[in-house]
Amino acid sequence: MFKTTTTTLLCFLLAVVIQADPSSPTATYPPTSTGSSTDTYVYAVCSPAKYSPGSGYETNLNSLFSSLASSTVLSRYTNLTVPAAGVKPEQGVTVYGLFQCQDDLDQTSCSSCVSRAVSQVGTLCPTSYAGYLQMQSCLVRYDKSSFFGVQDKAVVIKKCGQSMGFNDQDALTRAGDVMGSLGSGSGPYRIGGNGDVTGVAQCMRDLSASQCQDCLADAIGRLRSECGMAQGGYVYLYKCYARFSVSGSHARQTPNPNFFGGEKDDKDDNNGVGKTLAIIIGIITLVILLVVFLAFLGKQCRKLQDEKWCT
Ligand SMILES: *[C@@H]1O[C@H](CO)[C@@H](O)[C@H](O)[C@H]1NC(C)=O
Repeated sequence: MFKTTTTTLLCFLLAVVIQADPSSPTATYPPTSTGSSTDTYVYAVCSPAKYSPGSGYETNLNSLFSSLASSTVLSRYTNLTVPAAGVKPEQGVTVYGLFQCQDDLDQTSCSSCVSRAVSQVGTLCPTSYAGYLQMQSCLVRYDKSSFFGVQDKAVVIKKCGQSMGFNDQDALTRAGDVMGSLGSGSGPYRIGGNGDVTGVAQCMRDLSASQCQDCLADAIGRLRSECGMAQGGYVYLYKCYARFSVSGSHARQTPNPNFFGGEKDDKDDNNGVGKTLAIIIGIITLVILLVVFLAFLGKQCRKLQDEKWCT
């Protein structure tokens, strides 16, 4: 009789544990913070047109790469022409390039981000005349014709997170506020936040103030209309981008935030497994104690049964 009770109890408790599995990662989507994610790859665009290895273009491009990497010590934005401006540009040999770091990035992180971007763009776009690598917090771009100060609002990449639930009206309102503040802000770098919602918008620094405003209006407008009901999203145009994310209690788990690296999720998953294990161990201990207690009761009961107390 005790055995049946214990087995039933155990089954019931295990069922409870399985249903109450707390391993639900809180994904930030997409992450807007800096820190260890600054070097995360966002996208790369390479021209299909190729230069021939060993050409003058290759020599100039390599020279541009090393100049860009060394310029990061001094600033967060640099445009370069190789050979240097003043020398008559030669069609097919002159290289134009620039790098830029997000404004909130310190100089050391900027340097390391650009160094990585420079070495990666060479690998990702081998012998391409033009390459463009956007990292989470910095970008590197080069081309055989000058793109400095040229507006380009074509969409490179955009993505929305999972939809918000019906009970997330407050988060929706906050997200709307944040996008509104990004849009009405001024300058080439804008950050916004309201509670658990954060947003960032930035132009490439070669744009004039009015070009930047024009580009950001477009990016933020698209973000609003296409991802306004989502828990986050981003729109990258060639010359500017806007992104926002909702984190914390209102956020639902997103299906695949790996685009920006899934490190955070892995950590949370491990945490969840740990929690489940702790709960199972706790319950097993409880069950053992219960069995001991029941056995003790049983003994008492049998004793009492002899005395006709138990029937
Ligand atoms: C390029 O760099 C030069 C000097 O480094 C600067 O004067 C110029 O404004 C820059 N051009 C653009 C389009 O950013």
